[in-house]
Amino acid sequence: MATNVVVDLRSDTITKPTEAMRAAMAAADVDDDVRDGDPTARRFQAEMAALMGKEAALFVPSGTMANLVSVLVHCDVRGSEVILGDDSHIHLYENGGISTIGGVHPTTVRSNPDGTMDIDKIVAAIRRPDVIYYPTTRLICLENTHVNSGGKCLSVEYTDKVGEIAKSHGLKLHIDGARIFNASVALGVPVGRLVKAADSVSVCLSKGLGAPVGSVIVGSKAFIDKAKILRKTLGGGMRQVGVLCAAAHVAVRDSVEKLADDHRRAKALAEGLNKMEQFTVDSTSVETNMVFFDIVDSRISSYKLCQILEKHNVHVNPRSPKSVRLVLHYHISDSDVQYALTCFEKVVEELLTGGAKIEHLADGTSKNSYGY
Ligand SMILES: Cc1ncc(COP(=O)(O)O)c(C=O)c1O
Repeated sequence: MATNVVVDLRSDTITKPTEAMRAAMAAADVDDDVRDGDPTARRFQAEMAALMGKEAALFVPSGTMANLVSVLVHCDVRGSEVILGDDSHIHLYENGGISTIGGVHPTTVRSNPDGTMDIDKIVAAIRRPDVIYYPTTRLICLENTHVNSGGKCLSVEYTDKVGEIAKSHGLKLHIDGARIFNASVALGVPVGRLVKAADSVSVCLSKGLGAPVGSVIVGSKAFIDKAKILRKTLGGGMRQVGVLCAAAHVAVRDSVEKLADDHRRAKALAEGLNKMEQFTVDSTSVETNMVFFDIVDSRISSYKLCQILEKHNVHVNPRSPKSVRLVLHYHISDSDVQYALTCFEKVVEELLTGGAKIEHLADGTSKNSYGY
């Protein structure tokens, strides 16, 4: 099929900056942020702190560094332990940095399919402080939205409950809020209210919001003062960083209101896929910008499906041999969703009638960046 249409559903990290972001970057008022502070960074950080309902904020290069710095600030005593989901991004996909770099011990609680951890299991994981051979529990981490459950939202009630437990045990609560704005929009809860119970939140600017680079950490002023030192230790002090913060400011200003469209399109995609007998997806489980679907036809593997879709300029990632992940973002229009669905139908037909030529991946051994 000859077409110029490219539909890239691999991740919301692939977005290119808008013209407005590029213009803001070119015009940004900048200075040395490691020395006296960059004016654009200062303004953006103050704006993010206010939006998130916290005292202060810090711009960092990535979500991984945002989580690492946050965990390390909370767990600044040797022998500290953090409670987190066994299917959480921090635990699985951040190189074990909290242990290898921070010396922080993780204890995992099973992640439920909705992204929560059972409250009683969290409580049971908290170490008794009077037992000399235990590590010291210092922190609980949540992830909202929860990526490995397909972008599910943690409710404000659940978050508040975990916050209460943390408080009553003298612990801190950190939220990996890489996609917290998706959760806020989907739940209809102001973002500041959603994270009220948290002592710190990391927010990615370069995912659904579309900024080219960066994340922000928010928390108390004392927390951010310590985070700033650790950011420098980790090599994340950036000089004329206002160039990046200018784009991030535009991303927050312009993109949050568009997230609902991504969520609506994700549902439309799920509903379209569900009409195909080879696939199954519970469209009620699609809460934000992700669609995870299963392949129920034994003759089709996700690797072959993805490979043939590539030939139609539809880029998607396998999650496992029989499941596929799709992520919506602001480059995907309604007509792109329709185009992708048409291609899914065509590719299934090609695969089942033997028309498709499979050149690579036929053995299913190639892996995406997450190792699937
Ligand atoms: C839930 C979650 N947290 C943290 C990160 C890390 O962000 P970064 O890729 O900017 O390091 C990601 C990245 O995909 C993520 O999905």
